Amino acid sequence: MRAAIANMQISGDGPFTRQVHALLERLVGAPKALLTTSCTHALEMAALLLEVGPGDEVILPSFTFVSTANAFVLRGARPVFVDIRPDTLNIDAALIEARITPRTKAIVVVHYAGVGCDMDAIAEIAGRHGIPIVEDNAHGLLGGYKGRPLGSFGALATLSFHETKNFTCGEGGALIINDARYVERAEIIREKGTNRSLFFRGQIDKYGWIDVGSSYLPSDLLAAFLLAQLESRDRIQAHRRQVWEGYRTALAPWAETAGAGLPYIPGDCQQAYHLFYLLLPSQAERQSLIHYLKRCGVSAVFHYLPLHISPMGQRFGGKAGDCPVTESVSDRLLRLPLYNDLSPDEQSRVVDGIKAFTAENGVSLGADAIDSRS
Ligand SMILES: Cc1ncc(COP(=O)(O)O)c(C=O)c1O
Repeated sequence: MRAAIANMQISGDGPFTRQVHALLERLVGAPKALLTTSCTHALEMAALLLEVGPGDEVILPSFTFVSTANAFVLRGARPVFVDIRPDTLNIDAALIEARITPRTKAIVVVHYAGVGCDMDAIAEIAGRHGIPIVEDNAHGLLGGYKGRPLGSFGALATLSFHETKNFTCGEGGALIINDARYVERAEIIREKGTNRSLFFRGQIDKYGWIDVGSSYLPSDLLAAFLLAQLESRDRIQAHRRQVWEGYRTALAPWAETAGAGLPYIPGDCQQAYHLFYLLLPSQAERQSLIHYLKRCGVSAVFHYLPLHISPMGQRFGGKAGDCPVTESVSDRLLRLPLYNDLSPDEQSRVVDGIKAFTAENGVSLGADAIDSRS
């Protein structure tokens, strides 16, 4: 960051941004990566690039962050929510085709926890209907599916570098462009609807207003911060993997007796070690465990509320029962602390707290439990 200041170039698209672009292109194997101010903004760029408009429909999971839907709703589209699989918590490929209509403009998939969706099946359906895929890969940089990087399957993919992610610059994101037809317009949309990128590269002698757009590029200061994070990727991922495996080893026997689920990683997925979660038998137990751990000084948190039954989702006709797995999982999921400098002692405190909770409260096999590994 000192070097960025010394360069006297802390606005967007400076030398650090260019280095991050090149690194992301190499890591994902994509023809073009563009840093953005957030994953939310990268998704908004995707909606603009796909020319999503009023009356269009976009298929996506209900179990995701609001931005996955909002980016397309902002353009006037209707979100069509599809339930998730009970094992990976990713969009259920078997439910997608029934939701496709002549108005479907995109299929947006989320690799929850950095574990790949069933991309073979999804790409087959999307390809047959000629519908582009957008991968919301906020969680999954460096994850893979059948040996291929997550983020390399969709025409477009997005990344998040928010502080909660494996690699961060506080707030940030990226648009990954796998279909080269979108590159030129993406640069214009990201630069306020102008062809300023061409001008800065010396390809034209003046720039002007070409298209719609906004200011989606982050400061080179943030790119410098992010580059340092990405250069430390092996160390960061090795530690997160150690923590993740530590939880699995310590909690597998407990999960068996407590009737709880642990993350399931299909054999053909190389996960990104973004999240470790428990699926408790019931919402009541999940809530009691949150409070119990809080008293032990451990902050464990739930995750997405189903979008289809949120106040906004209901405006699009969503109602309880539409996505039963999402509704059940959202009530029962608990994320455990997983961050880059979590120490073994701290991790033991988390595990001991969970076991002590079960010892004090007894084992319950909730009637509404879904076996997360089935
Ligand atoms: C799946 C998913 N998509 C998008 C986002 C938005 O990311 P950002 O905060 O970078 O806009 C998040 C945030 O956590 C997310 O989990």
